[in-house]
Amino acid sequence: MSNIITIAGQKGGTGKSITAVNLATSLALSGKKTLLIDCDPQACSTQWCGIKDLDYKCDITWVLSGRAKVVDAIVNTRIKCLDIMPAEFNLFQVALKLAKNSGNEKILRFFLKDVEDDYDYIIIDSPSSYSFLSVTAMTAADWLLVCMSVHHNSIEDFHSLLRMVKYIRTTHDVPLKIAGLLFNRCETKKQIESFMKNQNLSDVKKLVYNTFIPNDVAIKNSRKLKIPVVLHDIKSPAADAYLRAAEELHFFFK
Ligand SMILES: Nc1ncnc2c1ncn2[C@@H]1O[C@H](COP(=O)(O)OP(=O)(O)OP(=O)(O)O)[C@@H](O)[C@H]1O
Ligand SMILES: [Mg+2]
Repeated sequence: MSNIITIAGQKGGTGKSITAVNLATSLALSGKKTLLIDCDPQACSTQWCGIKDLDYKCDITWVLSGRAKVVDAIVNTRIKCLDIMPAEFNLFQVALKLAKNSGNEKILRFFLKDVEDDYDYIIIDSPSSYSFLSVTAMTAADWLLVCMSVHHNSIEDFHSLLRMVKYIRTTHDVPLKIAGLLFNRCETKKQIESFMKNQNLSDVKKLVYNTFIPNDVAIKNSRKLKIPVVLHDIKSPAADAYLRAAEELHFFFK
């Protein structure tokens, strides 16, 4: 059975896509069979993995609209243990239609049953804010890894995420839990400690990953080149941090 983890976070630009791509790649590099699902019409994860629309016929839009099976929308990447279910901009149109019925928020979870025995990890990249697609991505998972920023997040954001977890657990009867808080664009541990204290988040301190992702120009370069940073520049501080964060994640699930 896979560990299904959605990379969550309310604010745009907190690093959900870069985290989804690089954690999935790091897990695959360590031999864990991993599926990365792009559940965002911005398709950042798809682009970051260098997947072009010529590389596939079906994507997540086909799956959610019932026109393709999950297995038909899975594409191999250049990394041996990493597959991806890509997305395209037209995902947003299907989402608008499906959003009319809240029962549809469980669709991805339902379809993933077909492949949950084929992977060690399924990592889902979700859009910001609370839209049909972000709720669908969270409902599909058993775990959330929350992308945090000492510059953006606040206690209100965190509490609204907890309210969303509660909504999903009760409405869809899924055992969704938080697997950890991963800080991005952060320079020191002290910064995180004082953030947690100032934001009155001390009671969830134990969820914070030891590893944090530093601000690193290698990330911008890897985006331009459409290669995960852990492949583009394995010696960069960001790559080193993502490899360690993947180890921490794997240790949690062992
Ligand atoms: N640690 C970092 N160092 C340097 N640049 C970063 C870092 N983290 C994120 N970025 C930059 O910030 C931008 C936003 O990151 P990303 O796309 O992962 O955020 P997101 O949370 O997925 O955004 P959205 O909510 O729009 O989906 C990226 O273009 C990336 O280049
Ligand atoms: Mg994103």
